[in-house]
This record gives sequence, structure tokens and C-alpha cells, in this order.
Amino acid sequence: MHIVILPGTNRSGSLTRALAGTVARLHNENGATTDILDLAELPAEALLGSIYKQPTAAVVSFVKRLLAADGVHALVPEYNGSLPGVMKLFIDLLPYPGGFQDRPMAYVGVSAGRFGGVRAVEHLQQISGYRNAHGLPSRLFIAEAHKAIAADGSLLDAELSKRLTAQVAAFQAFVKTLGATPAKG
Ligand SMILES: Cc1cc2nc3c(=O)[nH]c(=O)nc-3n(C[C@H](O)[C@H](O)[C@H](O)COP(=O)(O)O)c2cc1C
Repeated sequence: MHIVILPGTNRSGSLTRALAGTVARLHNENGATTDILDLAELPAEALLGSIYKQPTAAVVSFVKRLLAADGVHALVPEYNGSLPGVMKLFIDLLPYPGGFQDRPMAYVGVSAGRFGGVRAVEHLQQISGYRNAHGLPSRLFIAEAHKAIAADGSLLDAELSKRLTAQVAAFQAFVKTLGATPAKG
């Protein structure tokens, strides 16, 4: 099983990006291969107006890494009450009808505030649901991220750590049970 972890920001020093390392480690411990798709590496030409019709080789190969996923573990920081713009830009670069089509997804929200990114996650759920992804019902919300996530990406709260471990196991079981066949290219 191949799980792509998608931290939804390109911000330098992002706590969500740091957390991605922990999520990858947990998936590896459960037997999956992983790829962290870091939006800081999204090629700059993603901003060109011509990119939708004439994607460059660099953008195509970045997007292909998502298409290789049996499941996508999305980590969504809350920016202005929603998902970051760069995450939506990346989604807009995914092929149609491939992309999220038939692809299992799990969701983690991350925010500085006290709601744990619930708005950001629910906005992403709307988008990925529209694109026919299969969402894991059990979501995880990490509030006051600066107190909850260490610089190395580990979770400082034992209960949160337990819930993340459980979500990773539940997601792998979900991917297996679903037996979905998302397009791989
Ligand atoms: C442009 C921007 C907008 C933000 N808007 C919100 C917000 O609406 N609500 C909130 O709780 N935190 C907000 N934050 C703080 C992030 O949620 C916080 O930095 C958290 O650590 C997750 O983001 P990170 O992965 O970039 O660290 C914002 C941060 C940025 C950079």
C-alpha cells in the first residue's frame, strides 16, 4: 500500500509540514510505503496562466506523485478560515476525472486557534467529495498547534498522539476494505 501525505501549505517553518514526518513514520510502521508531497516544492510555473492547458514536465511529474497514491492522508492547516490557497491551486492542477476520483482520503486539521482547523478540513471535504474521493469518517483536529506540535513534528500531547496512531491504522484498514481502484497515472 502506498500512502501519499499531503501537508497543505508551502509555508517555511510550517508545523503541518513537520507533522507530516510523524504521519509518514506511523504509516511506515504499519507496513505502507509513503511519499510526503511538500507544496513548497510545487514548481513555480504552477502560477502561469497557461498551466491548465499546457502543464510543464515539472508540474506533471509533481502531480503524478499524488496519482500514485492508494490513499491520501491530507494534513490541512487553517488559513483565513479555510484551506491554504496553494493547496487549492494544487488540487486545480490535478487531472480530470483522475485526481481524487475513487481515492481514499483521511483528514487532519491544524490551527493556531482553538477549533483545530475544522473549517479548513470541511472545506477540503467538500472539494474532495465533489471530486468523488472516499473520505475516512474519523477525522483529527489539532488546535493551538504551536503548543501541540514540536519542531520535529512529534505530538506533545499523549491523547492526540494516540488518536493520530489510531487514525493511521484505521485509514490503512479503510484503504484495504474499500479495495478502491484509483487511477494511477
Ligand atoms: C496566511 C495565514 C492565515 C492563517 N489563518 C488562520 C486562521 O484563520 N485561523 C487559525 O486558527 N490560524 C490561522 N493561521 C495560523 C495557522 O493555523 C498556524 O500557523 C498553524 O501552525 C498551522 O499552520 P502551519 O502549518 O503553517 O504552521 C494562519 C496562518 C497563516 C500563515
